[in-house]
Amino acid sequence: MKLLVCGAAGFIGSTFVELRVREHGDEVTVLDALTYAGRQENLEAVQAEIRFMAGAIEDPAAVAGAIGDAEAIVNFAAETHVDRSIADPYAFSVTNGLGTHVLLEAARERGLRYVQVSTDEVYGSIETGSFTESSPLAPSSPYSASKTGGDLLVSSYFHTYGLPTNICRGSNNYGPRQYPEKLIPLMVLNALAGDHLPVYGDGRQVRNWLYVEDFGRGIGHVLEHGVPGETYNCGGPDECENIEVVQRILTLTGGDESQIEYVTDRPGHDRRYSLSCAKLEALGWSARTRFDDGLGRTVDWYRENSAWWEPIRSGAYREYYERHYGRALR
Ligand code: NAD
Ligand code: DAU
Repeated sequence: MKLLVCGAAGFIGSTFVELRVREHGDEVTVLDALTYAGRQENLEAVQAEIRFMAGAIEDPAAVAGAIGDAEAIVNFAAETHVDRSIADPYAFSVTNGLGTHVLLEAARERGLRYVQVSTDEVYGSIETGSFTESSPLAPSSPYSASKTGGDLLVSSYFHTYGLPTNICRGSNNYGPRQYPEKLIPLMVLNALAGDHLPVYGDGRQVRNWLYVEDFGRGIGHVLEHGVPGETYNCGGPDECENIEVVQRILTLTGGDESQIEYVTDRPGHDRRYSLSCAKLEALGWSARTRFDDGLGRTVDWYRENSAWWEPIRSGAYREYYERHYGRALR
């Protein structure tokens, strides 16, 4: 298939592109604005086989220049970190809202297939049970509200113009090349450095962990088999409280419990996410990686790839960290 994949210099998009090139022989053009979270080296393994274009999805000229003879657009491009959306929300509306809209228009003009990569956070928090695709949308943060806005635009293009769209909503991903602002890579790198491990609130919030290759394959499955206009949840096989994730990381890294520091909670913090994936499973997808196995592999990857994360931890990320946590990184 000929694909325009937006936002693929980031964590999940780069994994998706590797899978599509290696396992399906797809012809891929990547469009990515290379924000703080995007790095071309994330695509190193397939760089000779893909076309890379630097540009923003909210820029119609950049999108027109990248689209070529693509048959489908898969959109990963987004501002993705909840804490940043609380401190600086406008960028989220621009990329996640307007950017999605520009891509939909480009798809409509050319009659292309369109897959929007979305998140379980659009449903808000759930104390017990799991969200299905028909659960009400109740986002809590500027990040999740902007992703919900994007999803609603996607649905409107199916209903109004008959554009063959799908939405694929993932739970919390983890794995190689995740930017260290997110819980798992942050805790792994701080544990290895002997630094503090900042746990928000009581640490009893629950997330539904999905190994990044499982999400990449889930999105590919939706691209190939999704019924136009439908939304598919794609969640991980295991739920875990944050404090338990941190304790497992301490065991895997040889760190010490005294590194754990309870810090002020995130405003509006969602307590628990949980997805029912029965609809995508009925289409033939299932998660392959259990959390224990994937977490071990992820810790090993960060241990063996300091050349990937050292430039991040010595650059602008240090300033972000100091501003957000009120203390310097070690
Ligand atoms: P990421 O932050 O690692 O990467 C985002 C990528 O988008 C970067 O390469 C960045 O340069 C690019 N980008 C940002 N703004 C852009 C713009 N205006 N134009 C073009 N490119 C732009 O994100 P990720 O964790 O890989 O998430 C990818 C997608 O998956 C997002 O849509 C996110 O909402 C969704 N998602 C993420 C998770 C998760 O746990 N990380 C879970 C479910 C869904
Ligand atoms: O659920 C899918 C979503 O998962 C994606 O849509 C988002 O793009 C992605 O960032 C992620 O959002 P979360 O807010 O769940 O992930 P994060 O890694 O920021 O935090 C996971 C949990 O860990 C959450 O309960 C907050 C907590 N946490 C996070 C950080 C960064 C801490 O306790 N301490 C921290 O320092």
